[in-house]
Amino acid sequence: MTTRTRILTGITTTGTPHLGNYAGAIRPAILASQDANADSFYFLADYHALIKCDDPQRIQRSRMEIAATWLAGGLDVNRVTFYRQSDIPEIPELTWLLTCVAAKGLLNRAHAYKASVDKNVEAGEDPDAGISMGLYSYPVLMAADILMFNAHKVPVGRDQIQHVEMARDIGQRFNHLFGNGKEFFTMPEALIEESVATLPGLDGRKMSKSYDNTIPLFTSAKDMKDAISRIVTDSRAPGEAKDPDNSHLFTLYQAFASKAQEEEFRAELLQGLGWGEAKNRLFQLLDGQLGEARERYHQLMSRPSDMEDLLLVGANKARAVAAPFLAELREAVGLRSFVNQAAAPVATKKKAAKAARFVSFREDDGSFRFRLLAADGEQLLLSRSFVDGKMAGTFTKLLQSGKPMEVRVEGLSFSVWLNNTAVADSPQFADAASRDAAIEALRIALTPLED
Ligand code: TRP
Repeated sequence: MTTRTRILTGITTTGTPHLGNYAGAIRPAILASQDANADSFYFLADYHALIKCDDPQRIQRSRMEIAATWLAGGLDVNRVTFYRQSDIPEIPELTWLLTCVAAKGLLNRAHAYKASVDKNVEAGEDPDAGISMGLYSYPVLMAADILMFNAHKVPVGRDQIQHVEMARDIGQRFNHLFGNGKEFFTMPEALIEESVATLPGLDGRKMSKSYDNTIPLFTSAKDMKDAISRIVTDSRAPGEAKDPDNSHLFTLYQAFASKAQEEEFRAELLQGLGWGEAKNRLFQLLDGQLGEARERYHQLMSRPSDMEDLLLVGANKARAVAAPFLAELREAVGLRSFVNQAAAPVATKKKAAKAARFVSFREDDGSFRFRLLAADGEQLLLSRSFVDGKMAGTFTKLLQSGKPMEVRVEGLSFSVWLNNTAVADSPQFADAASRDAAIEALRIALTPLED
């Protein structure tokens, strides 16, 4: 039994990924996802993109380019849950539940919002001029992204640390208000990769679209070569010794070279390799490492329907987690069915357990599910979703019949299996003791009456 670390991160879909994005975020994320202990959720934050961009064409192009970049870069969608935020309707729904507990004062302090206000004030404008509710609520949407999937680790840039902290704040408040001692949400932690390079751009400042100093990633070999030829170097002539440690061209080379290649390049620069030739070497290195991925990228871009299919599979995987969890959260805040409200008065513990009942219901997508509720209405189990109503019925009967079931503990929750099929899941518990007590209560509840 292993508890894998859930790693989740979103990529705002407003631009075309460049070499700096690749080395700084994409490549490390793909590598991290290959770890057997990692359960990675990576998604296109396209709802977030709408906050910054009102150009539909650009939004659409960027979503495709970013999806193709991650896939071409080697992301394995069988290991990773890769999806578009906007394909998960549970996200905006959770956003609202969280909006209702998020303190306005907390959001007033968000850096992005504050920066916009400061700019307005400086320009003598109304403080909130041009600021949308989207920008203001940005951290709540991001909290929903993170809390929906109970992520443990959230790899982000430094500018996003505050948002992850806000997700903790908001999640904690929800837990406190509605958890009844149960922690619905896992507290996420920002993960800042210290070792990952922030690549310098053509002019030596951080590579960034806003500085217009980027090296394109997958557009074409020619574009990459042209950009490399524009890297700013000092005026030392061929034959003169170069200083690798003060050359951002060398830093760029380093970010893609093996130790041996790096040492060789360093030695050559010290021996007076000309900058023109040095640029050539950098191009050869990058082209060698990225050429194949570039081809895959263009193949993917030319077959958008394949990507659509992959992303919809990812969305289904994500929703299989999100939908039952959101159902629990709705219950918790009081958005409950009017049916099965009455809780029978509890006489003895045993009797209470016996009074557990199954409630079946249908999802919007037509699939079937059931819950097992304790006498006091507390949810003991939520079934997986079944395409076939009969199947759901059969499993309910099997459980009622007292047929041996297998309980698999997964962290602070457990799942129930029949005939090697995952049938239902427990809620998340605050600690192992309450989880084990719930397993015991479940076994009692499902022991048939002997009268
Ligand atoms: N705000 C993040 C950024 O601009 C993108 C993002 C959206 C995100 N939702 C997220 C990152 C959830 C991590 C987790 O970089």
